Amino acid sequence: MPSPEEGFTFERTGHTSRNRTVLAAMTNKQSADDGTLSEDEINWLLMRAEGGFGIVTTAATHVTPGGQGWTGEMGVWGDHHIPGLTRLADGIRDRGALSLAQIFHGGMFAPEAITGERPVSASENPISKDSGETSRELSSAEIEDIISSFGDAASRCAKAGFDGIELHGAHGYLICQFLGEKTNRRTDEWGGGILDRSRFLMRIIEDVRGKVPEDFIIGVRISPEHRKVGVRLHDSLALGKMLVEAGVDFLHISCWDCSWGSSEFTDDERTLTQWFSETLDNAVPIISAGGIWSTAQARSVMGHGADMVAVARAAIGHADWASHMSDGMYDPLKPPFSSEHLEKQGLSQTFIEYMRAWDGFVS
Ligand SMILES: Cc1cc2nc3c(=O)[nH]c(=O)nc-3n(C[C@H](O)[C@H](O)[C@H](O)COP(=O)(O)O)c2cc1C
Repeated sequence: MPSPEEGFTFERTGHTSRNRTVLAAMTNKQSADDGTLSEDEINWLLMRAEGGFGIVTTAATHVTPGGQGWTGEMGVWGDHHIPGLTRLADGIRDRGALSLAQIFHGGMFAPEAITGERPVSASENPISKDSGETSRELSSAEIEDIISSFGDAASRCAKAGFDGIELHGAHGYLICQFLGEKTNRRTDEWGGGILDRSRFLMRIIEDVRGKVPEDFIIGVRISPEHRKVGVRLHDSLALGKMLVEAGVDFLHISCWDCSWGSSEFTDDERTLTQWFSETLDNAVPIISAGGIWSTAQARSVMGHGADMVAVARAAIGHADWASHMSDGMYDPLKPPFSSEHLEKQGLSQTFIEYMRAWDGFVS
């Protein structure tokens, strides 16, 4: 079994990560209103590259203005984003890490208050129980436009010097809304069984591939299970096989707690990482994220078959988390963190304020 501090090479593209640690995508609200990167956002990510991460992933970044999920979210929908993206990609490379941009569309969770447009989705879905608001079902022509926007966004990331992209198919956003049986009730080619519900994602992969250089990393992040949109483990495993067929460079599973089993197969004690590694049998590198803080936990998740481990909250609290992976006893302090501590870890006041929304994170 490899350990987190060992290097990893992506076979198809030839990129080598200096170790098997990944900074998971984290929304941090520090970008300008037009989606351009701020110094604060660049600094926070560069500090993690400096801190030893093998791969640094940006926050979820929207591929069309209508896909924006939060205020202060970085964008990749226009060429005006390229200078900031270039500075970020250059800085990450100079510090020895690989860079990935996590590209996405919020779909029904891209609020009208931000975009000025009624939210769209695979089907007309309730957005909030209280307001009675619903999303509008996308037409086939609009679906094609969004697919193409993903490809254009990936091309901008490549021009800016990123090593690759992660397609955000997790956490209930547009790609996930197409994958889910509750939020995708279409009867045309974009809906039906998992094969058809995956078409949107597969077509995005195809479009991206046609618009980026051969050696550009293309990976996908999914939620193995997502109750709200109706993503179930057996479908996610089938999707995993399709992604292997499609030749993606990695599959990132967002588990929230890597030590958990599945809620669908409750009698089976396998963790989600074990389900994927056993089903896909090393055919695609697997990144696992969720609840990893200590070296022991990182090693255990790799023992379950992950090729790389991703962390989010541990890396907010400890910019140099990745550099401790050779210390088997490393078990860093957990929240609550003081705002002084978070400032020292490179968070701006805007980001610290946002982290107050995460229960018990800021003291
Ligand atoms: C502040 C914050 C912002 C996040 N933003 C994103 C995001 O933009 N995209 C995404 O895929 N996941 C996002 N996540 C989820 C994390 O990537 C990760 O999967 C989750 O926090 C579990 O990992 P952890 O236990 O190491 O924190 C976010 C998490 C946090 C704490």
